[in-house]
Amino acid sequence: MKAAFKRILYGGDYNPNQWPREIWNQDMAYFKDARINSATINVFSWAKIQPGEEEYYFDELDEIVDMLSRENYDIVLATSTAALPAWMFQKYPEVARVDYQGRRHTFGKRHNACPNSAVYQKYASALVEQLAKRYGSNRHISCWHINNEYGGECFCENCAKAFRVWLKKKYHTIDALNAAWNLEFWGHSVYSWDEVVPPNALGDGMEFGPEDRLATAFAGLSVDYRRFMSDSLLENYKMERDIIRRFDPDTLITTNLMGTYKGLDYFKWAKEMDIVSWDCYPSYNTPWSYTAMCHDLMRGLKDAPFMLMEQTPSQQNWQPYNSLKRPGQMRAQSYQTLAHGADTIQFFQLRRSRGGCEKFHGAVIAHAGTRDTRVFREVRQLGEELAGLSAHIQGSVNEAEVGIVFDWDNYWALEYTSGPSCSLSYVDQLHQYYRYFYDKNISVHMIPFDADFGRYRMVVAPVLYMVKEGMQEALEEFVKQGGVLITTFMSGIVDQSDNVHLGGYPGPLRNLAGLWVEEIDALAPEQSNTVVFSDGTEASCRMLCDLMHLEGAQCLASYKSDFYANTPAVTRHPFGDGAVYYLGTALEPAGIAKVLDMAVSDAGVTPVIAEATQLEIACRWAGDCTYYFIINFKEEAQAVPACFAGQTDLLTGKTVEAGEQMAKYEVKIVKLPSGCILF
Ligand code: GLA
Ligand code: ZN
Repeated sequence: MKAAFKRILYGGDYNPNQWPREIWNQDMAYFKDARINSATINVFSWAKIQPGEEEYYFDELDEIVDMLSRENYDIVLATSTAALPAWMFQKYPEVARVDYQGRRHTFGKRHNACPNSAVYQKYASALVEQLAKRYGSNRHISCWHINNEYGGECFCENCAKAFRVWLKKKYHTIDALNAAWNLEFWGHSVYSWDEVVPPNALGDGMEFGPEDRLATAFAGLSVDYRRFMSDSLLENYKMERDIIRRFDPDTLITTNLMGTYKGLDYFKWAKEMDIVSWDCYPSYNTPWSYTAMCHDLMRGLKDAPFMLMEQTPSQQNWQPYNSLKRPGQMRAQSYQTLAHGADTIQFFQLRRSRGGCEKFHGAVIAHAGTRDTRVFREVRQLGEELAGLSAHIQGSVNEAEVGIVFDWDNYWALEYTSGPSCSLSYVDQLHQYYRYFYDKNISVHMIPFDADFGRYRMVVAPVLYMVKEGMQEALEEFVKQGGVLITTFMSGIVDQSDNVHLGGYPGPLRNLAGLWVEEIDALAPEQSNTVVFSDGTEASCRMLCDLMHLEGAQCLASYKSDFYANTPAVTRHPFGDGAVYYLGTALEPAGIAKVLDMAVSDAGVTPVIAEATQLEIACRWAGDCTYYFIINFKEEAQAVPACFAGQTDLLTGKTVEAGEQMAKYEVKIVKLPSGCILF
């Protein structure tokens, strides 16, 4: 395998095929001026490359590849399999998906091939083979980009058949399947594999609330279907990857992921990818901590630097309100991305398209076709800076003492479940905890359920609803050895099939948390309660309230009102050399912060600098030196922490002055010897 990239890739999606040749020359000149060194091409060109079942046409793509090779680009070559040609739908309707409502789709849009269609697989393989044969030895191809933003579900007959095969492999016998999904409930027992049907709106799926919050009569079935769909799409990815490998032994292969996207188990996917890449599209009001969490999650998938495959240089088109990125914002966001582990900065897109639904999507070159724009100038400034930074940050990594568990099975099961509250959102809960560490500049790794917990001083596992095999022992061992575990309400409830761990909540975590949750109250959005800490401090709480009995844990805060007033709401349980904090309700941020302050000091976790600041500071370690990325995302100017005074800002070459103010979106990068303690 080729090692990482030789420079920070700077560029993005480029579709010269949508433009006449004169524009191509202009593009090359403009991009050079902006220090763009990479282009992602051929993302949606299947219909162009394969106009009919037996015909291929590569002249134009050859020309594009030649032009970029001449200009010494790092080419990211996509395989084009994410949007199918019209002829394929017309001749083979089975390539289209059947949706949750049972409707067979037609030609249109993209990202909608049935993953289990043998016809789709055949034509996608043939196309990829052509591409890999043709371009596999071009040394300017620095990365293969398979398909595009895999996702969604299909409920067609081919998928039903493949699901049954998947189930047989997992459960072996029909009895095991009946037991796993508890099919005695509502008399749903099945006697043969053929009786199993996908859980859509016509079957066991239940529509209830917004589309991504579907409930189901059998969460075990629905979670298995999600696992199966994630695996089916992953098989499509692997099919393409394996073909490329036959012709190109060592170029990195990726596909672009989507942060906390619910549909795919990205930890499983990442094992099959050489490098993780992802598309980052926050809205105008997305908290910066949320974007940081997504970067950390994407880095966490392989515990390695990642590619920022797409971000907009200015605005999007597909959100309800597509505000412009303010002056300096794109730059600040790009540095946040690098700080959290990216090795590339790529845009969607390099030139704004003329027609189609993305004509209002921002680009390096706008419809005016000139370089004389604010956006182009900002892109050029960043390009110049990145060219100087490459040698520094390449090869550096992110380290952390805190691990936050993110698990897609848990995500699915928690949100499929019917009751006790439809307000519960997995990602939102995780973000509530992540934000605390972000605000304190404590670096965090997002980790899978089967991570090596021993690497961390503290493990945070909010709403750990599904406790899978092996997890109880691993967490007990971690805490016994001195680790600090944070967990919350709606934890330890079910096993991998969504059947309850009997014997009292939080099931396998009961011994560890030192408590028994007898009942769970649900509060409607307009209702709340309050918890009172032993020092008299109060914090409001909402959504869910555990009614619990202590079995060794100490009470840190109790409820203030209702029939469970004065009973414990937040606890700490010493266990071995460590401790477990249990938050039995959804506390407001100040309440979470109060508990985590105690836990952090218990665990001996430290922020990247000791001084408290409103600036975001994140680090990349490069062995003997550490790079501090200092960014102001606040409205008001902020003083640079005293520990950086006298150091050189790598971006300007100037010395950081004591008390210097940083305006909104200002960035500094300071390099210091590793291990130096910053007070
Ligand atoms: C996604 C896709 C791109 C483009 C952008 C627009 O990330 O991968 O093809 O549609 O969205 O934001
Ligand atoms: Zn299908």
